[in-house]
Amino acid sequence: MKKVILFLLLLQVLPLSATEDKASIELPKDISLLLQQEMQQIRQGMESLTWLVASGNFSAVAKVAQELEAGYIMKHKLSKEQRHLLVATLPSGFKALDQRFHAQAGLLAVAAQQHDAELVNFYIYKMNEACVACHAEYVSDRFEGFSSPSSHSHH
Ligand code: HEC
Repeated sequence: MKKVILFLLLLQVLPLSATEDKASIELPKDISLLLQQEMQQIRQGMESLTWLVASGNFSAVAKVAQELEAGYIMKHKLSKEQRHLLVATLPSGFKALDQRFHAQAGLLAVAAQQHDAELVNFYIYKMNEACVACHAEYVSDRFEGFSSPSSHSHH
């Protein structure tokens, strides 16, 4: 009896340990290219923020933030078919991170309109956190720095 229970426990545990090495999401080539374009825009926007904040250019910060909020490929550039496919294939955790990132960009825009430098920096920090969270979880094959050497000794 104990052996049977142990076996059943193992069955439950094994699939988990097999997926411990986080798999990156795989997207169709056309969607991947669009996403890469959006990511490059996001990167440029984020990089520009450092100096815009440092120089107190809040109207420009708000403009960049609004662009980041709106540059939502899932909403805009995709065809209907691509969008259906994406919604069906993307893990819900990925979609949640994406939505949170865009919501934070919206909050950043509001903080900038209020010239609230501290809150602006807070949301920039939160948005950087979102890049890290999503890349570490779903794009770790591209961004190898996120796989820790100790837990991935077979690499
Ligand atoms: C919800 C998930 C998600 C968030 C949030 C996210 N990214 Fe990405 N990012 C991806 C995925 C997925 C790829 C890989 C796309 C591909 O190659 O198909 C990627 C790739 C990239 C690339 C490489 C693009 C290329 O040309 O290959 C850059 C640059 C990038 N992200 C910047 C950022 C920055 C900066 C942030 C935060 C401000 C960010 N991303 C937030 C999912 C995300």
